[in-house]
Amino acid sequence: MTDHREIQERVAALDLSGARDRAGHLCAELNRHSQLYHSLGTPEIDDRTYDLMYRELELLEARFPSVLLPDSPTRKVGGPPIDALRSFTHRVPMLSLGNAFSEAEIREFDARCLRFLGPRAPSAIAYVVEPKLDGLAVELVYERGQLTGAGTRGDGMVGEDILHTVRTIRNVPRQLSGRDNPERLSVRGEVLFTLAAFEAMNTERVHRGDRPFENPRNSAAGTVRQLDPKAAAERGLFFTAHSFGEEDASLGDTHSDRLATLAGWGLPVNDRNRLAIGPEAVWDAIQLLGDARHILPYEIDGAVVKVDAVSLQKALGFVTRSPRWAVAYKYPPAQRATRLENVGFQVGRTGAVTPVAHLAPVRVGGVTVTRATLHNADMLTTLDLRVGDLVLIERAGDVIPRVVAVVPEDGRESRPQPQFPETCPQCGAQLVRLADAAVTQCPNTLGCPAQLRAALRHFGSRGAMDIEGLGEKLVDQLIEAGLVRSVADLYHLTAAQLGELERMGARSAASLLAQLEQSKDKPLDKALTALGIPDVGEATARDLARHFGSLHAFLAATPEALTRVPGIGDKVASRVHSAVHAPGFEALVAGLQSAGLRFTPPAAPPVTGAIAGRTFVLTGTLPTLGRDDAKARILAAGGKVSGSVSTKTHYVVAGTEAGSKLDKATELGIPVLSEPEFLALLDGVGGAP
Ligand code: IVH
Repeated sequence: MTDHREIQERVAALDLSGARDRAGHLCAELNRHSQLYHSLGTPEIDDRTYDLMYRELELLEARFPSVLLPDSPTRKVGGPPIDALRSFTHRVPMLSLGNAFSEAEIREFDARCLRFLGPRAPSAIAYVVEPKLDGLAVELVYERGQLTGAGTRGDGMVGEDILHTVRTIRNVPRQLSGRDNPERLSVRGEVLFTLAAFEAMNTERVHRGDRPFENPRNSAAGTVRQLDPKAAAERGLFFTAHSFGEEDASLGDTHSDRLATLAGWGLPVNDRNRLAIGPEAVWDAIQLLGDARHILPYEIDGAVVKVDAVSLQKALGFVTRSPRWAVAYKYPPAQRATRLENVGFQVGRTGAVTPVAHLAPVRVGGVTVTRATLHNADMLTTLDLRVGDLVLIERAGDVIPRVVAVVPEDGRESRPQPQFPETCPQCGAQLVRLADAAVTQCPNTLGCPAQLRAALRHFGSRGAMDIEGLGEKLVDQLIEAGLVRSVADLYHLTAAQLGELERMGARSAASLLAQLEQSKDKPLDKALTALGIPDVGEATARDLARHFGSLHAFLAATPEALTRVPGIGDKVASRVHSAVHAPGFEALVAGLQSAGLRFTPPAAPPVTGAIAGRTFVLTGTLPTLGRDDAKARILAAGGKVSGSVSTKTHYVVAGTEAGSKLDKATELGIPVLSEPEFLALLDGVGGAP
């Protein structure tokens, strides 16, 4: 059987023309097999054969960048999709939308469209105003009316294949109605939960001891990415179509006609979409939708305004990654007043003590709120908060609700003022007020049960070690039973110990232990996230892992070395540095290592595409990209950036006022790219957007 070694040898033996032929063959075959696999599940080859062919194509493209074909299944920009789901390539990239936050910005958007269209502009532009659904963006592909593909947005070029779960969504037709279905239709929209389904699902999750989802969008994402379609089917997702992938003139001449065509075929389209001519009518429609948003059965985070005529959309075109013909208006965060019933004090993962408002239940933006953050001790004094006050709560999208103001009322001075505690409400340790920040801290890092609880929850969370079985209930039980005194203790749990916990069956115990065992191989970035280092979220952990390549190198880094990671400034570098050199942290890492955690170095940077393994030199001012941005993109795609041009340089990216580096490049015959050419190379679209 062919293996990786054989593939490497085969690729090494090819010349450019041989490579081109082979890449063409592999591309066609991979695409054909991917079709067979997706459409009705009739694969001709097994996954391993597919993976080996894919790997060979990756190697070929890395060695001979010019053989990269536009329809190559390897094209991708960002990080790789997760192992178990296959990738889904969008033939037309899925873009994002520019934002507007006020009536003036909506007028400005209209004025911009008119200006850009010049003589082609009508006297007033017709727009469609649609709810901006706060769900998960997906693309559905129908071939001759049959649903054959579904993918998440991913990085815009390549997402994850979710056909198996999308097929279970009740309002997604498997077969379009009517006879005039096109050869191929790619329709885009949002997958989301109704708020009722979301709340019901979370109640049940909490009841089972699982972690609740943070918001309807995350839960939709979590659900469609399930490997088991049955589990997804039970949860009650729905789909709404709002845009298109590949162009198809037969759908209609206007966006509204096109949506009507979809609706005619049985595809769900939003019933709140409105046609509005001119900016005043657009603003009215936005306001009306805003008024209705609290009674909608699903969550929206804005309104999308789109030029209706497709001919005008085409004339307007795109700016980098968003269409010039559409804009997303973001509603101000929802606010509601309610009574402050009490103030509690919560101890977080890092020991920070945060006052939490306990509220009379109130619905804000479609979700019932009973708790809101008060941030820190200063906030209590600034607001002069008193128990019994009428307070204004704000909830913006998926952020934690917060108290923004107190409603003045007569006699409120006589109400009791909440007192910030002197000692930790969880472990009794004397609290410490940090000088440089408004943070009050419990210094008992190793012994405080609240910190341990938060650390364990974080450790098992989805973006970290992703240990599904480690729900909040179980964390509490483990701490109460004294089975876990540090995160590393998780790895010393036995089936017998777990079996003694209430509501823990043998199967759940075995599954938890298996998940823990598997988590030892989690890649470095996930493990770094799991360690809960202040300022190190998922994205920063990924950057750190990519930059340093090993736990050892990261721990040995000086603050100065940390600042060389894109996006890390002096402040964060110094905080990260002191956090990882605190005694508690070193003990934590040592404990995890001796428990068997491998902190597996990240996979080699992408070996796909024309960037990987190539050295770039940037010179001059690029029209839109900042230097750091351009550099970060090259690094993310597996390339290198050098400061000087030599025979080892593969490409020079030149902007205006490029000087001697450009001359040197010309002298050495090194390809010089303009910004659009560079972006095209990055995006793999083979032309300017
Ligand atoms: S149209 C070129 N319409 O918002 C972009 N998008 O920032 C065309 N979204 O992830 C998208 N509701 O999935 C469009 N009515 C709507 C939308 C909508 C939500 C999402 C979309 C994308 C994001 C764009």
